[in-house]
Amino acid sequence: MIVGPPLSKERFSEHSNQSRPTKSRNTVLPKARTPPGAGGLDGGSKAGMIPTQRADGDLGKPQYEAPVPASFASAQFLRVAFVRHGGVTSAKSGVYGPDGRACPLRFRHSRHDKRARRLSFSGWPEMRPAPVVVAQLGCGYWGPNLLRNFSALPGCDVRYVVDASAERRAFVERNFPRTKALESSEAAFEDPEVTGVIIATPAATHFPLANQALECGKHILVEKPLATTVAEVDVLARCAERSGLIVMAGHTFIYNAAVRYVKRLIDAGELGDVRYVYSQRLNLGRIRSDIDAMWNFAPHDISIIQYWLDDQEPTSVLRQGLDCIQPGVDDIVFLNLAYPKKIIANIHVSWLDPQKVRKMTVVGSKKMVVYDDVADDKIAIYDKGIDRKAVLGEHMDFDHPARIDFNYRSGDILMPRVDFVEPLRLEAEHFLDCIRTGKEPATGLTHARTVVSILERADAAHAGIAR
Ligand SMILES: NC(=O)c1ccc[n+]([C@@H]2O[C@H](COP(=O)([O-])OP(=O)(O)OC[C@H]3O[C@@H](n4cnc5c(N)ncnc54)[C@H](O)[C@@H]3O)[C@@H](O)[C@H]2O)c1
Repeated sequence: MIVGPPLSKERFSEHSNQSRPTKSRNTVLPKARTPPGAGGLDGGSKAGMIPTQRADGDLGKPQYEAPVPASFASAQFLRVAFVRHGGVTSAKSGVYGPDGRACPLRFRHSRHDKRARRLSFSGWPEMRPAPVVVAQLGCGYWGPNLLRNFSALPGCDVRYVVDASAERRAFVERNFPRTKALESSEAAFEDPEVTGVIIATPAATHFPLANQALECGKHILVEKPLATTVAEVDVLARCAERSGLIVMAGHTFIYNAAVRYVKRLIDAGELGDVRYVYSQRLNLGRIRSDIDAMWNFAPHDISIIQYWLDDQEPTSVLRQGLDCIQPGVDDIVFLNLAYPKKIIANIHVSWLDPQKVRKMTVVGSKKMVVYDDVADDKIAIYDKGIDRKAVLGEHMDFDHPARIDFNYRSGDILMPRVDFVEPLRLEAEHFLDCIRTGKEPATGLTHARTVVSILERADAAHAGIAR
């Protein structure tokens, strides 16, 4: 039997904002009791306030939250946020509901006892970081998936969606009434409470929009590919570095439990030495005119292979493609990559294929694994291989070099259970977590730059081939 690395729930330790222990808001606590780290309701310079994690990630001042009366059924915190905008620091306070939106603030107090003019206090609310306010640009085919996931996260307030299309704005207004739909991005970029911008527009617009968002001091999550040239990625990197902002690319598959399972198999040496990887991402449609099938699909395959092979730079990149439907826009592309240590990879992408296929195979010296994203059992590990026979005195290399014999190993096939969490949800949580903590995203600049660099090298290789 094959024993893979332990398959606990596919959660990342960094996605910890979901696992906070909860406290009942109705528990009555003794008056003198203070939460850890708090100065007490009456004492300290920020009396009753609980220092919390910063939501904006780039301001030196902490934010504070204070408990509020349980009588406000929907209220969760009194929050005083120190917000810096245009060099001015100001304080904002309010009671925030479970959806992170501000509620009207009224304190209950006795009219006769001034000493009682304090929060009438019947329980500690659940402690959570202040919500991260984000704006999303683009809500076409893919954008609704991002919007659904971000809107469902407790620590997130999707305040704006910007889309050039009136039909898409109407879709947002109909389905996400708490989010404001805008035609242009100025209001979202100028809102100082917006700390993160999610970009889900066509690839050619990624760089200008991402650059503008960074210039306005926003952390960014950009759909794949991050940009269309390495030079553009480097401009974003310099801008992010200057302002201490997060740049994350939406390479969704890195947050996919099956992809991470295969990574653990490779890292644990279960497959032996990786010999080659091949990938098929095929469909009939959805055809695009702004980019070809390689730029549309292959960022996924490249991102996964790079992740499995520890983001090594390929030593060579070759591409062959065919434009059948629109002149100059390849519908079918075969990419061949070579890596150090004698590893090769082949990627076949097409939107002109009779079947929907999302399959990747890794052949190792000990075992082989097939990851099929559209199958119920996404992973199959084959204990198969070919070894040279070495029986003393019998067909040994030095006896009969021309008649080396081989052992064909054909053992068990293991289909492990993989606990699945929607990858886009993990990606969204990870983005918020990186904003809160300032940590480098798993699909940050280093990973995204290599993906763009491989696509760019493939284009350059293609330009040299006569059609
Ligand atoms: N991660 C994934 O699995 C995945 C899947 C599909 C698409 N994508 C990516 O998502 C992005 C969007 O793809 P799509 O298929 O949704 O495209 P789409 O063309 O269906 O939608 C793009 C939307 O952006 C809007 N838009 C265009 N320019 C804009 C601008 N300057 N400001 C505001 N809105 C603008 C359009 O009106 C449209 O509604 C692409 O980068 C694509 O690569 C990712």
